[in-house]
Amino acid sequence: MDALLDSPPWTSLFPVHPATTDAQWWRTAVVYQVYPRSFADSDGDGVGDLPGITARLDHLAALGVDAVWLSPFYTSPQVDAGYDVADHRDVDPVFGTLADFDAMLARAHALGLRVIVDVVPNHTSDEHAWFRRALAAPAGSAERARYVFRDGRGAQGAEPPNNWRSIFGGPAWTRVAEPDGTQGQWYLHLFDARQPDLDWTNPEVRGEFEEVLRFWLDRGVDGFRVDVAHGLVKADGLPDWDGTTAMVEGGADGTTGPMFDQEGVHEIYRSWRAVLDAYPGDRVLVAEAWLDSLSRTARYVRPGEMHQAFNFAYLTTPWDADRNRQVVVDSLAASDAVGAPTTWVLSNHDVVRHTSRLGLADAGSLPKGIRALDEQPDAELGLRRARAATLQMLALPGVAYLYQGEELGLPEDTAMPDEARQDPAWFRSGGLEAGRDGCRVPLPWSADGPAHGFSPTGRSWLPQPPSFARHALDVQRGVPGSTYELYRRALALRRHLQLASGSLDLVELAGVGTSDAVALRNRDVLVVTVHRGAPVLLPAGCDLLIASDDVARDEAGSLVLEPGTTAWVLPPRAARLPHARTTG
Ligand code: BGC
Ligand code: MG
Repeated sequence: MDALLDSPPWTSLFPVHPATTDAQWWRTAVVYQVYPRSFADSDGDGVGDLPGITARLDHLAALGVDAVWLSPFYTSPQVDAGYDVADHRDVDPVFGTLADFDAMLARAHALGLRVIVDVVPNHTSDEHAWFRRALAAPAGSAERARYVFRDGRGAQGAEPPNNWRSIFGGPAWTRVAEPDGTQGQWYLHLFDARQPDLDWTNPEVRGEFEEVLRFWLDRGVDGFRVDVAHGLVKADGLPDWDGTTAMVEGGADGTTGPMFDQEGVHEIYRSWRAVLDAYPGDRVLVAEAWLDSLSRTARYVRPGEMHQAFNFAYLTTPWDADRNRQVVVDSLAASDAVGAPTTWVLSNHDVVRHTSRLGLADAGSLPKGIRALDEQPDAELGLRRARAATLQMLALPGVAYLYQGEELGLPEDTAMPDEARQDPAWFRSGGLEAGRDGCRVPLPWSADGPAHGFSPTGRSWLPQPPSFARHALDVQRGVPGSTYELYRRALALRRHLQLASGSLDLVELAGVGTSDAVALRNRDVLVVTVHRGAPVLLPAGCDLLIASDDVARDEAGSLVLEPGTTAWVLPPRAARLPHARTTG
């Protein structure tokens, strides 16, 4: 054997994370986010629904995911696409009925898929019975005490109680007309004016949500994604605050403000954990908390609290090798410190799809939507980098979250006509922010056919751009090199090689600048992502398992990885070191 082949093509720098033998499903799962409005429409009204999801669950089983997370389908006026819940115990007619939910859940379980549903505890819809009663009742009443009503400041209380801004733009307070017709108190809404915040210091609110959890646990759900998990408790006295907060990125100046991440939220999740633990099976809580620091985020997944928290630090990391390496190391360290799995996520229903984000000239930017008059992403570059980013993500130990359509390489719709937009962030920002509609366009299942297979009538609540035909599932299935087949094969290999429970080492490739590429080893698999610079050569004798794009071999037989590529490689046999570090 060639001497070269006996030595590994890298040097191990340091171990980042030990392998785990823990068999709990939520430590290693791949979870696919279904956005019900846009997944599949069964009744032709142009809005996706539960029977539509049920009919398409085979797609998710074939893709090879372990679990599905559904964004809200509860009774709602749909001001914030269902994140404004009017009845937590029922299905909105636009999505179907409770019986449709039960049928969906049964089908998912029959296919071996777990189902996580959203719970939205920070606020309700203004159409919730509690809020209607609060408006009809006087200041100081028990009905008002479920929400955050306060007297205004200044003469006649004409100024809002404090200076907080809504995440969607504009003030975070709205003044109500009292039942007698006079101008009255103000209520807090961190989001739209039609999403009043609940008062979580009120035991009645706490009791109600524990019952809501039990309602869905009794129906058989496998867990909850907790919306704005860091927002429920506000600092005493609601002090003024001049900072700014954005969705997903958290506080722009590194602080989160008196409306977020207060100590009191943790007690709520400890009580929720006790509710879940009283049920058979392995049910989970997932925190959506936009905090800058990984160590603050890890506090939501300490023993006795939630099981997982979204890793938005990974999502917001720009296309940069050093920062990418750092966030991987820091993420694992932060979650290992509390014994929780790390999660990885690149796209969801609140951010510009990573296929488009990574195609911007400043690939570190996280725009609040993209309009036709903004800089347009380089679609080819964006897709190439997105595939590379995903292939790295799927090699990392822990839990991976996928957002519907990313398996098709769907781009953001950056040319949506303004008249079609529906996101409250678009309206409340006065059109300064395009908002999130561009990542929420209904999926293309087939190149031809009405609404590309989304709806039997061809209706679609947001228009589908012409490029969606190219991305349709039926033109990618079975096609080597398609994004769909890349995801499917990567998911199968991830499972086969047990990467999700694997160890991670940081490694250095001989002759490759650390600012150009990130090299990791999970179990025996070398995972290389080339961000920029010259092509990376891996010696002959390495077996290529999968790559995000074409990888050639040069005359010497070396694998040639161009920038914008991730590859999973098995090193020459002699270099496959026994891997004994394991925790249980
Ligand atoms: C959800 C958003 C929603 C907001 C208010 C979020 O974090 O993901 O889509 O607009 O909470 O409920
Ligand atoms: Mg429908």
